Order: sequence, then C-alpha cells, then structure tokens
Amino acid sequence: MKEQLQMIADEAMAKMEEVQDIKSLEEIRVLFLGKKGKLTGILKGMGTLSAQERPIIGQMANDVRNRLEDAIQKTRSRLAKKEREERMARETIDVTMPGTVIPRGKKHPLTLVLDEIKEVFIGMGYEIAEGPEVELDYYNFEALNIPKNHPARDEQDTFYINDKVVLRTQTSSVQVRVMEKKKPPIKIICPGRVYRSDAVDATHSPVFSQVEGLVVDKGITMGDLIGTLQVFAKSLFGENTNIRLRPHHFPFTEPSAEVDVSCWSCGGKGCRICRNEGWIEILGSGMVHPKVLQNCGIDPKVYSGFAFGLGVERTAMGRFNIDDLRLLYENDIRFLKQF
Ligand code: DAH
Repeated sequence: MKEQLQMIADEAMAKMEEVQDIKSLEEIRVLFLGKKGKLTGILKGMGTLSAQERPIIGQMANDVRNRLEDAIQKTRSRLAKKEREERMARETIDVTMPGTVIPRGKKHPLTLVLDEIKEVFIGMGYEIAEGPEVELDYYNFEALNIPKNHPARDEQDTFYINDKVVLRTQTSSVQVRVMEKKKPPIKIICPGRVYRSDAVDATHSPVFSQVEGLVVDKGITMGDLIGTLQVFAKSLFGENTNIRLRPHHFPFTEPSAEVDVSCWSCGGKGCRICRNEGWIEILGSGMVHPKVLQNCGIDPKVYSGFAFGLGVERTAMGRFNIDDLRLLYENDIRFLKQF
C-alpha cells in the first residue's frame, strides 16, 4: 500500500507539472482526491490493514493528501496568473496605431452657396423666413397682384394640385405670409424650393431653389435695393463685381428690374460663359407694389419696401464655374467631391 500511495503521489505530481489550464487541473483533482478518486480508494481499503499498519499508512495517506492539495493550490494560482497575463497581452490597446478612418461627407455645392448667401444677409441684419412648398394660389399669385387669367401666370408653368392649391412657383409667396403676420420694419430672406412645369436641360429644372428678399420700412428707396445687391454681389463673386439693373415688369413690384452681375468668368469683357454679353442675369427685383402692401394690411402711404428673388442654382453655377445645371442634381460623387 505504501508503494501504491507513493505511485499515486508521483503520478499526480507529474500530471500537475504538465497541466496547462485550470479546467484540466480540476479534472486532476477529481481524479485523485474526488469521492471516487484514487487516493480516496486507498483510504477506503484501510479497513483490511492490521492495527500496527493502519496508523502508519493513515499518516502517510494524510501526508500525500496534504501534499497534493498544496500542489493543486499552487498550480491553480500559477495557472490563474498565466491566464490573466495572456488575457492582458491579448487585450492590450496600442494607442499609437492609426485610427479607423470614417469617410466623411461634405456639403453639396447648392448648400455651400446657400450658406454664403445667408451669411451675407444675416450680416446685414436679415432674418430667415420660411413658407410651404405646397401653397395656396392666393399666396403664390393673387396676393402678389397676379389675378386669375393674368398673362404673368403663363410665364410660370405651374403644377396645379387643384383650383386653389399649387406647388409654389416662386418664393415670393413667403413675402405675403410674412407681411400678414408681422408689421414693419421687416427685413427677411426666404430660401426655398420652387416648382415649375419645365423640361430638364442645361439651364432648366422642374425643381429649383430661390432666395427671396424683402425689406419694408418707412422711407425705403431704390437706393437701398441697389446698395444691398451690390454688397451681395461683391461678397459672392468678388470685390470687383458690378451690378446692372435693367427695367422689367413684375406684377408685384413697381418699378421692377432684372439684375445682372458682371461676368464672374471674364469680368465683363465677354466670353463663352456670359455669351459675350459681359453680364449675367441672376435675379429679379423692384419696389414692392402698393397693392401688395395693401393686400397684407400695410399702408403704402406710410411704408415702402423693396424685394428681390434670386436663383440659387444660377448663383452656384457662377460661383463654382459649373456649366450644366443637371450636375447639381445627379449626385455623381466625382462631381460632388470637387467642392
Ligand atoms: N419671383 C420672381 C421669379 O420667380 C423673382 C422676383 C422678381 C422676386 C422681383 C421678387 C421681385 O421679390 O421683387 O421670377
């Protein structure tokens, strides 16, 4: 029995030398010290021993058990330490490694130009106003002095939803909405989408964007309009840019003018971009018609105002030298990347 105990001890110790993980160590423990383990088996057989042998073997078996328990304990902490170290090594973060690059989007050229336009006018004390794209005929036409059957309606090929509702053809509708709610002084711009039943080509789209401007106060003159547009044109197209007003007719302004800027490409000498004119038309404007003021409950004898409406696409095309309006809507990454 002595030899058996010695063999068990040797075998257990040898296994513990080799064991690699805590789970296998536990299996070894069960194999030797468990209820059906090898050492337990020996102890169970002690009843067959003589009275002299029993305490000696009992003592020895106890020693072996203590040794094994002690060794298991030590091995367990050695393995735990090893496993912890391995995990730490595995989970180390190298903070000097290059980061994961997340592709970043950028602003669309129309948005870029719109931001610039807003900044210029906010700098001059304007507020931003908004109105609905699905609009009442009244705001889009009637209140702007364009009654039913007025020829000016033909110029704006309109998407009618029904007799009273249209997709707004111009942001001028917001002028009326603002004046109905707020009394002068009024100083607003209104950026927004407008809709016209036009076929798509290099300069036309059924959906495009405008920025409307409106100033109403006592003593507002055409001089204020011109000065304002000069600041705007120089801010967007450069300090050397000039503007030119050509007499025109809009039902909601009197007098009215179309406004050109000196060509951003050739500076006015004449080139392909300005079709040799030296000038490029970018907006319509004028002094708010007394009837429009009246329609909104503002007394034209006390107040006057100017208004303008400018095309954002056209401005963006000038600002970035884009020669086809369709590029602004096709979402071709190769095009958009350039801005
Ligand atoms: N609404 C006009 C258009 O779409 C542009 C315009 C002209 C706006 C004169 C104005 C204005 O505010 O005073 O063609």
